[in-house]
Amino acid sequence: MAKDVIIALDFPTREETLKFLDLFPADAKPFVKIGMELYYAEGPSIVREIKARGHRIFLDLKLHDIPNTVGRAMSVLSELDVDMTNLHAAGGSAMMQAALKGLTRSDGTKPLLIAVTQLTSTDAETLKNELLIETPMTETVLSYAENASKSGLDGVVCSPLEAAQIKERCGNGFFTVTPGVRFAGGDVGDQKRVMTPEKAGKSGCDYIVMGRPITQAADPVEAYRRACREFLG
Ligand code: C5P
Repeated sequence: MAKDVIIALDFPTREETLKFLDLFPADAKPFVKIGMELYYAEGPSIVREIKARGHRIFLDLKLHDIPNTVGRAMSVLSELDVDMTNLHAAGGSAMMQAALKGLTRSDGTKPLLIAVTQLTSTDAETLKNELLIETPMTETVLSYAENASKSGLDGVVCSPLEAAQIKERCGNGFFTVTPGVRFAGGDVGDQKRVMTPEKAGKSGCDYIVMGRPITQAADPVEAYRRACREFLG
């Protein structure tokens, strides 16, 4: 199974994004994540441009709507030739299956499709008092992951601390993509439950997503290389 470090391109403009990518030598093309900020600012052209530069792309737009709408939107995203994209498992099995169908290209290939279970910003209190879900957080996350797996999805976005349990429940071939990764002794920022790349590599994470520890580093290329060394071992 492929293991890799994905850099979160959390920049507001095309210019800042390309300036960052220009730091990397021509033979090193990191897997990158384009999220809502950059996509909504620049539109699909930024995806095409970064793809044309030779990067693999995780398009992190977290779709959540009725099955027909999500299926049709996924078919548009798959034509953008992204490598990975996602949705909210809370949309239910019918939505996830429609997404998978929409994402599958006429030649049978498709980007990896992964599900967000519960956002890490949702705490136990919000789950119970606002979402009115009485089931404890861990079981909710595991159960949503199981629904995603049964719907044919490739994996989930999760905390590095949940990766091993998800593999246990859904099988080793079910991908875990984990943000919240920080270098030992580094600035944690607003992430609460963090893990080092080395520990994430030993905890069943297939892909780690790192933003600020790489994008804000004095030497981003060296920070990326360090993340790869530590995560891939
Ligand atoms: O800068 P940092 O390493 O914290 O970036 C993590 C990236 O992963 C951000 O793009 C953030 O939006 C995303 N993410 C996250 N936690 C989640 C889901 C996505 O940090 N639960």
